Amino acid sequence: MSSHALLKRITAPDIRAKKGGEPIVSLTSYHAHTAAIADKYVDFLLVGDSLGMVMHGYETTLPVPLELMIMHGRAVTRGAKRALVVVDMPFGSYEESPAQAFRNAARMMKETECGAIKIEGGTRMAETVKFLSERGIPVMAHIGLTPQSINVFGGFKTQGRELAEWAAIEADAKAIADAGAFAVVLEAVAEPLAAKITKQVDIPTIGIGASLACDGQILVMEDMLGLSPRVPKFVKEFGKVGQAIEGAISLYAQDVRARRFPEPANTYEMKPEKP
Ligand code: KIV
Repeated sequence: MSSHALLKRITAPDIRAKKGGEPIVSLTSYHAHTAAIADKYVDFLLVGDSLGMVMHGYETTLPVPLELMIMHGRAVTRGAKRALVVVDMPFGSYEESPAQAFRNAARMMKETECGAIKIEGGTRMAETVKFLSERGIPVMAHIGLTPQSINVFGGFKTQGRELAEWAAIEADAKAIADAGAFAVVLEAVAEPLAAKITKQVDIPTIGIGASLACDGQILVMEDMLGLSPRVPKFVKEFGKVGQAIEGAISLYAQDVRARRFPEPANTYEMKPEKP
């Protein structure tokens, strides 16, 4: 038996049980090697449909097809053996009806072996959250700024700055919690509202640009690594990976042009695996 097989993977109920405890740590991940690196530090990895923008150069998440999410989902479940892997259902794959959502979410779970899926929307998706949860599919919800509705919002703006906006967002949180979601992402929600919702619902709130008041945090991995060309103001860059990549590529180009690489004595045998 491999050492990986002995590790117990974190489950959706484990994440739910963390409500009000030590903050939940999560990141997006789209590929096997970075998933393997992040695995021991995070509680869950989200294969976000932001991969359409980050990996594939789309302007929004709307063009991302189900098949692309499945391919990246598979890569991440192969790379991460401990963290819960949650995969985003892309635009158009779940909104039509609970039956459409179940068909596509079941395919996602069978083909990626992920432990949960995420859908955007509050009150309007509550029936679907209940339908999926009752049929074996753990659902993470996503409210506040929901990027798949960017054409309705008219841009990436903080939600809940005005008191008049609060009731609808609070109702969204309550509806999906009552429907059985195991956690909810609050994106770009103003701090006092994020704090109020976190107190009101009995499932963990995972903030992205929604303040310290949430039960946990998520960031797009490329943003916190310093790889994304443009990031929102709340993002802290914990690394300078973009600069490191450019530095390495320029050294490689210099070595090839100067005929310093490859060194003649080196063979194609593998070096020892990194710890
Ligand atoms: O697609 C994504 O990366 C997300 C996170 C921003 C929460 O939904």
